[in-house]
Parts: sequence; structure tokens; C-alpha cells
Amino acid sequence: MTKVVQLQECAPDRAALQEAGDILRRGGLVVFPTETVYGLGANALMEDAVASIYQAKGRPSDNPLIVHITSYAQIDQFAYPNQWAKLICDRFSPGPITVILKKKPLVPDRVTAGLDTVAVRIPQHPIARALIAAAGVPVAAPSANLSGKPSPTRAEHVVEDMDGRVDMILLGGDCSVGIESTVIDLSGSEPIILRPGKITLSQIKKIIPCATLDRTLLEKPSRDLQPKCPGMKYKHYAPDAQVIVYEGRLDCVAAQIKEDIRKYQAEEKKVGVLCRADSGYRCDAVIEWGKTASEEAEHLFAALREFDRLGMDFILCEPAENSDLGISVRNRLYKAAGYEIVRVGERHG
Ligand code: TXA
Ligand code: MG
Repeated sequence: MTKVVQLQECAPDRAALQEAGDILRRGGLVVFPTETVYGLGANALMEDAVASIYQAKGRPSDNPLIVHITSYAQIDQFAYPNQWAKLICDRFSPGPITVILKKKPLVPDRVTAGLDTVAVRIPQHPIARALIAAAGVPVAAPSANLSGKPSPTRAEHVVEDMDGRVDMILLGGDCSVGIESTVIDLSGSEPIILRPGKITLSQIKKIIPCATLDRTLLEKPSRDLQPKCPGMKYKHYAPDAQVIVYEGRLDCVAAQIKEDIRKYQAEEKKVGVLCRADSGYRCDAVIEWGKTASEEAEHLFAALREFDRLGMDFILCEPAENSDLGISVRNRLYKAAGYEIVRVGERHG
């Protein structure tokens, strides 16, 4: 049985947080909101508890987890922080960023999938912070979706995926960032972003000019082109419907989407369109996902799940904003589409 509790962000129920903290400390599973997406937490120092995360999600065991703590000072319990970690965390933590550092032996292999590095994040969401503090232990937590599904950013989505699979679900409303944290590897000779997120390369370059982006992030993984982040090689974020992403000038894209709607509807398929603004699409469902990359990120996963609820066969997507943050949105969108991208004419953003 899963206990589901709705919490107020401004005045969370202390007793419920204490109960959730106790569950974590003793080896149980608790789902909780963060500013990026909902997380599925377990005591990071208990091997069996961590193993049960993989079971609840149906997650491949070679995909390592992020360890969540509340302050920078706690890092050196289990990892070796360096100068870059200090710079990044001083500037962006608490917040939507994860740093990869060399690990100490205390961290179970289950957390890191046998790697000699560990991912660490200091979240900003008040409920996440209160829960980790109540647990009194570092909390290993992947996104709280069933493996392969879009990460949950809304209460109803996390309940849909996790009810019956965990001990407790803390609900705290919608996640404001909407895509998972930026993951930056600081364990090698130069900092490299393995997963783009709300904190962008140009923001990071302002404090660490030599930082780079893993060049595989917008490309289909192949034998010769493997992303450095283990989790990035899996098909991810995928709704049941087939997603098709269009790239190109918006007016040309809109014309192509209209043509394709007619084509798929002639085959008796249900077609949804994800767009900046509805330019007269005659299809089965239209979702406007926002006019800036921030809004696109915030609504992307919720929109993909909504199209599934509505029973769409195809989801046709207008291009994400042409910006730094747009790269992070594209990365998720391309994966959702299994890299099914239709390029139309020239692109002008
Ligand atoms: O925003 C987030 O990061 C959310 C919330 C809950 O904090 N968590 C999240 O976790 O997205 P997950 O497990 O869905 O994604 C973690 C990513 C995976 O792609 C994984 O491969 C990568 O981080 N990762 C974890 N440890 C790593 C390591 N030692 N080296 C390289 N990549 C690592
Ligand atoms: Mg995930």
C-alpha cells in the first residue's frame, strides 16, 4: 500500500515529512517533488534500498543514480569535491544542477552502477530539502517515472506511475523547471555537460570557460557515437504515441504539419500537435507548450503524457526555441521521437 500525502509548499505537514524521512532512513521508498521533476528516493547508503529503486522503476541496472543532499558541506562524506565543484555549487546550488565527482568507498556500487564516480545534486524545492533533512541520510533518486516514460512533472502523473510501487508519495504540485537537472562531469581533465538542463552551457562558461557540451547530445546514439552519460543511451521520455519533430522555418513547418495531419488522418490515425501557438491545425488535439524555451521545458513532459491520455497515435511537434535552453528541450524531444526528425526548408528560429 502506498500512502499518498498532499503537502503545502509554504507550510508542509511536519508529521508527514518526519514519517517519510523515517521510511527513507529504514530502507523504504518515497516519491517527492523537486524543482525539476518528481524523484523516487531511497537511502543512498543502503544497498538493498537502492536496489529496490531499480525494481520499482523497471530501470536497467547499468544506469547510475543521483545522490541528493541539502548542502555543499555534505559532499565530502562520500565524494571528492574539487575547485570546479565549489565554483558550480556556489553559483547554482541549491538548484537544477548535478555534478559528477570521484566517489569515496562509502557509496554502494548499486548507486553508481560500478563507476568510480558519483552524481550529486543539492535540490532547491522546499519539500525535497525538508525530506532529505528529515531522513538525515543522502537520498539516491532517479526521476519517478516508469523506465522509458516521460519524467513526471505533475501530481497525477507521478501517482499514475508509482502508486502501489513505493511506500509513500509526497505531492507538492507542478515542477517549475519541467526537465531534469543539468548533469556536468567534473571528474575528468575538463568539465563536460553530459545532460543539458535549465542551467545552460553559456551560464556555466561564465564561471568555467573551458566547459563543453557532450557532442552526442542531439544525435542518435550508434556504435561509434555513444553518449558519455550512461542514462542517455536509452530510449527515454517516450509516450505511447509516435512523436515526430519538425525543424525549419515556422511557417514552412506549419504547412508541412498540416499536410501530414491530412495524411495520417486519411489512415484513420489520431493526430495531436504540440506547438507555440495554434496556427489553425485541424487535428484531434492541439497543445500550446509555450512561447519561450523555459515554458517549453516546463510543459514538455506533461504535454506528452496528456497526448497519451487522449489516445493519440501521432504527436507532431513544432521546433523548440532556437536558444541555449532550447538545446536542452530539443535533447528531450529528439529522444522522445526516437530521432524521427523532419527537416523543412531553412531555420530562422
Ligand atoms: O533533475 C534531476 O536530476 C532528477 C531529480 C529527481 O533530481 N533526477 C534524475 O535522475 O533525472 P535520473 O536517474 O532520471 O537521471 C540521472 C542521470 C542519468 O542519465 C545517469 O546516467 C546520470 O545521471 N548519471 C548518474 N551518475 C552518473 C555518473 N557517475 N556518471 C555519469 N552519469 C551519471
Ligand atoms: Mg530519468
